Amino acid sequence: MDSGRELTGQRSIIEEQLAYYRAVAGEYHTHTLDVPGQQELLAAITAQSPTGDVLELACGSGLWTKRLASTAASVTAVDGAPEMLELAAERVGRRAPVRFIQADLFTWKPDRTYDLVWFGFWISHVPEDRFEAFWSMVDRALAPGGSVFFFDDNHRTHRELTEGPDSPIVERRLNDGRPFRLVKVPYQAAALECRLRELGWSITVSATPGPFYWGHGGRFPPGPSTPPLDLF
Ligand SMILES: C[S@@+](CC[C@H](N)C(=O)[O-])C[C@H]1O[C@@H](n2cnc3c(N)ncnc32)[C@H](O)[C@@H]1O
Repeated sequence: MDSGRELTGQRSIIEEQLAYYRAVAGEYHTHTLDVPGQQELLAAITAQSPTGDVLELACGSGLWTKRLASTAASVTAVDGAPEMLELAAERVGRRAPVRFIQADLFTWKPDRTYDLVWFGFWISHVPEDRFEAFWSMVDRALAPGGSVFFFDDNHRTHRELTEGPDSPIVERRLNDGRPFRLVKVPYQAAALECRLRELGWSITVSATPGPFYWGHGGRFPPGPSTPPLDLF
């Protein structure tokens, strides 16, 4: 799939995906997922209490931003939808150590490094042909020894699969029925872990009984340095 502009005059899939999130922001709290595994996922998330500088990608309405800001030294939270950022800013309050940035994550370049890069319910929205570039950006954002924590789900309903079960594209509707196409890659934990290993990441991806999974790790540690040869 070429996620860029597919046909002249048509919105690209990533533009349409962002348009969906801009439009859904006001009713986002009504689009909940009632499937098994939520408790396990929540337990994995709440086990994280980062203390350093955190970068949160696709922060949405700030559900995790608020939690992160309660333990981290600082949080930089990025999202492409101003409507989502407004909700997030309201949720975290003015005193929280959070810098919000409105940016398209497919072109944004981090201006500093972080101890932790965090993203919830985002990786499944990254098109195949942007996967490597996305992880290069995460790599650039990580301080030496920094870690990554992410979580998502591979849940796609039959109704959403308007382009068939083999397509990464799904159709989501607003409460008023307006349809939007989104990317929803149905990752399986083991395959995602392998894919990341091939890109030089040492991230354990764990699955819950339901559709949720989470990943935690970092770059592969550099191998042991070769000792100089003692020839004389
Ligand atoms: C599924 S929501 C996840 C929100 C939040 N992380 C959470 O767990 O509640 C995906 C988020 O990605 C944002 N988004 C979509 N396309 C984007 C893009 N190209 N650049 C930046 N953010 C984008 C949306 O605005 C939305 O807030």
